[in-house]
Amino acid sequence: MSYNLLKGKKGIIFGALDENSIAWKTAVRVHEEGGTFVLTNAPVAMRMGQIDELAKITGSQIIAADATSEEDLQNLVIQSMEILGGKIDFVLHSIGMSINVRKGNHYTNQNYTWTQKGTDVSAMSFHKVMQTLYKADAMNEWGSIVALTYMASQRVFPDYNDMADNKAYLESVARSFGYFFGRDKKVRVNIISQSPTPTTAGSGVKGFDGFIAYADKMSPLGNATAMDCANYTVTLFSDLTKRVTLQNLYNDGGFSNMGVSDAVMETFVDNQ
Ligand code: NAI
Repeated sequence: MSYNLLKGKKGIIFGALDENSIAWKTAVRVHEEGGTFVLTNAPVAMRMGQIDELAKITGSQIIAADATSEEDLQNLVIQSMEILGGKIDFVLHSIGMSINVRKGNHYTNQNYTWTQKGTDVSAMSFHKVMQTLYKADAMNEWGSIVALTYMASQRVFPDYNDMADNKAYLESVARSFGYFFGRDKKVRVNIISQSPTPTTAGSGVKGFDGFIAYADKMSPLGNATAMDCANYTVTLFSDLTKRVTLQNLYNDGGFSNMGVSDAVMETFVDNQ
């Protein structure tokens, strides 16, 4: 169902790799709500993914940009304003990657070159995106910037590895940069903390199937899907949430406030 919540709004969406990507679902929903946008991803992802198909569905143009490269980001922002015909109203940062996770390096046995690369891609890139937008004065007043995080930033999930640290960094950047963006440009910055979701990045985490089943059993409403996340993001891009900023917003079926659920307890109780 469409409510035209984003009619006339223009944006940039990072991180749509394939149809499972949270950014893909968000792009589809933003399009349905009347928003127009540029799609972007790392040059390597252009070759692996199916972003061309998404561009066709949503009538969007694609600009390749490595989110760790300031030069690529400057080019992206300038070109996006040209394509969209003016300043930007919304930005989705939906980027995450850990080489230690991908290569199966345990948290207690990091390859720090990989750790640094993961931090650059998953967390510092959010600062770089915002600094580029801020310096270019590219955001319209009452614009909205959203990035995605996971609960392992705040509580221990052993197999989330160095991504837990990257997400803690990302969340801090949202608050710190969000202050300046709010004060100087009237732009809001928020983070959505999403349930485990079966995507390329998500499924890379060791024991992901157990992870997702446990979260589902713990959450009174069950896990939030990628589409739920897309819908939540649409509200944050809309004018209905104008003064929500610097927040870490949980889209997790209630997981973050649970101690234990009946469904999880059942597996430990002796029924004899
Ligand atoms: P995904 O694998 O579909 O998306 C990750 C994206 O990051 C890909 O499109 C990839 O090409 C892009 N990327 C990697 N390196 C890049 C670079 N140097 N420059 C630009 N883009 C780059 O997976 P998903 O799950 O949709 O991930 C989106 C966001 O959601 C990530 O921040 C992830 O950590 C977060 N998240 C995911 C959860 C899950 O369980 N899937 C749970 C909570 C948060």
